[in-house]
Amino acid sequence: MKPIELRKQYLDFFRRKQHMVIPSSSLIPENDPSVLFTTAGMHPLVPFLLGEKHPAGKRLTNYQKCIRTGDIDKVGNAWHLTFFEMLGNWSLGDYGKKEAITWSYEFLTKELKIPAGKLAVTVFAGDKDAPFDQESYEVWKNMGLSEIHKYGKEDNWWGPAGKTGPCGPDTEMFYITDQKPCGPKCQPNDNCGRYAEIWNDVFMEYNKTAEGKYEPLKQKNVDTGMGLERTAAVLNGKDDNYQIGALKKALEKVKELSKKEDIKAERIIVDHVRAACFILAEGIVPSNVDQGYVLRRLIRRAIRQEKKLEIEKRFLFTVAEVFLNNYKLLYPELLKNKDFILEQLIREEEKFNATVEKGLKMMRKELETVAVRGVGTRGMIIRGKNMFSGKVAFNLYQTYGFPLEMIEEELKGVLVDKNEFQREFKKHQELSRQGAEKKFAGGLADHSKETTKLHTATHLLHKALRMVLGDYVAQKGSNINPERLRFDFSHPQKLTEPEKKKVEQIVNEQIKNKLPVTLKEMTVNQAKKEGAIGLFGEKYGDKVKVYSIGDFSKEICGGPHVKNTSELGIFKIIKEQAVSAGIRRIKAKLE
Ligand code: ALA
Repeated sequence: MKPIELRKQYLDFFRRKQHMVIPSSSLIPENDPSVLFTTAGMHPLVPFLLGEKHPAGKRLTNYQKCIRTGDIDKVGNAWHLTFFEMLGNWSLGDYGKKEAITWSYEFLTKELKIPAGKLAVTVFAGDKDAPFDQESYEVWKNMGLSEIHKYGKEDNWWGPAGKTGPCGPDTEMFYITDQKPCGPKCQPNDNCGRYAEIWNDVFMEYNKTAEGKYEPLKQKNVDTGMGLERTAAVLNGKDDNYQIGALKKALEKVKELSKKEDIKAERIIVDHVRAACFILAEGIVPSNVDQGYVLRRLIRRAIRQEKKLEIEKRFLFTVAEVFLNNYKLLYPELLKNKDFILEQLIREEEKFNATVEKGLKMMRKELETVAVRGVGTRGMIIRGKNMFSGKVAFNLYQTYGFPLEMIEEELKGVLVDKNEFQREFKKHQELSRQGAEKKFAGGLADHSKETTKLHTATHLLHKALRMVLGDYVAQKGSNINPERLRFDFSHPQKLTEPEKKKVEQIVNEQIKNKLPVTLKEMTVNQAKKEGAIGLFGEKYGDKVKVYSIGDFSKEICGGPHVKNTSELGIFKIIKEQAVSAGIRRIKAKLE
């Protein structure tokens, strides 16, 4: 069975069980700033798992493109992929454990014709946060399955996808491969490779809070995920992902380009180029921050394999073309952005090749001093000094884009002062965090007239929300472009229609009242005394800017703002939705 057939069979099966097929969402999460990529099919569905109504109903199914970077160093082995496709079916407060498990079993044994004896499952054993999943255990037992293991949270709990949000106990399904047991007690959580995890049914019945508590959700959901590549591989009797579908075609291409063989290097290229194509298709470019940095790392790591395989330079785009061709119907964004994707790959490869030489020179120079430094006054090695400077390593990383693992490889045995490297890394992170906070505090994409108006409207909205919902409402994020404002704030549930109407009405009243907007600088303490709201990020004693809108609102803010609310027009809420547990988002515009 080919991946494309498995995809179709899965969707058809759940369509017959009254599920609506929904499209694959973007790889960049829209609702969750705490993670860089969509890591599972449930990720774009978080607001609906929390209770919002999904327009397609309560039973959904799809294939979702996902990126997971947590195990990036393992890529090159049989099963770990950076980019993969997840088949999923969901119950948004509709069916429960029994139906979910029964259908999973039916699909595996009747549709895919996997003999029951080739399946093993695991269920949640229970702990202080949630009880043993007796129901799932019983359902599997009644099904006649003999290999049922009970594990704790580390194995049988899934989510939240970000820091907070829906999560719960799960039951995982494993295909027992022909590999020999690793010992007399060989079992799924040995991770020895004999048990290949193919599907996971998660019972999203809890909400993890920012304090780390697990609160029961009102709406009990089912979230399932099947790894497309992996399942297709085991169904074909293969023991790695690269022997079927697009990955196989790309691997053949890499082999064709190589003069030497090295299966790990070949797989890394295939995996990383595929992931890079999909990230580029989202309009992300290689950079030193966020998604752009992951992209850069993937591309550069792929390029570095060229040495092992003796591939000619500028080979990435040739491999990329295999994927663009293969996925053109399923993911039209690849073909639409074809020129951009190939151009970026070529450009990044050239950039990297140019900097590699410079970086290597710097590395050699530092390496010489290591040898000198390594010898103490009496000819003894001074402990801790016979190491490659962590500062220089960080510089190589920061300026030349050398990942630490590459530096270590090049140093051939000389150790890098990792503590120093980490210290430098933290320092840098702190600087970018401060930068991000500044961005966050303002949330302005530009300083055009329209964004300035919307910025003032954001202050009115903030205050109006506190009046209608309560004083606990606090800003959690803001983003403004010339078309609309986006405001994230703390509030536990969906706003009702009357609440939204009331908020709009209050804001529009302030606009009608033609309130002057004034700026005063004062100490944080003074601002607090005067009842200003906003982010009290600065140190005590520092001066802050406080913007007042008549007597209506007073907020710490960097500006800019309009002079008078009469400039704003009519305020309208376009959308209100969940971002994560306890955080809502409003999009609004001025007409
Ligand atoms: N969200 C679950 C997973 O990724 C299904 O395993």
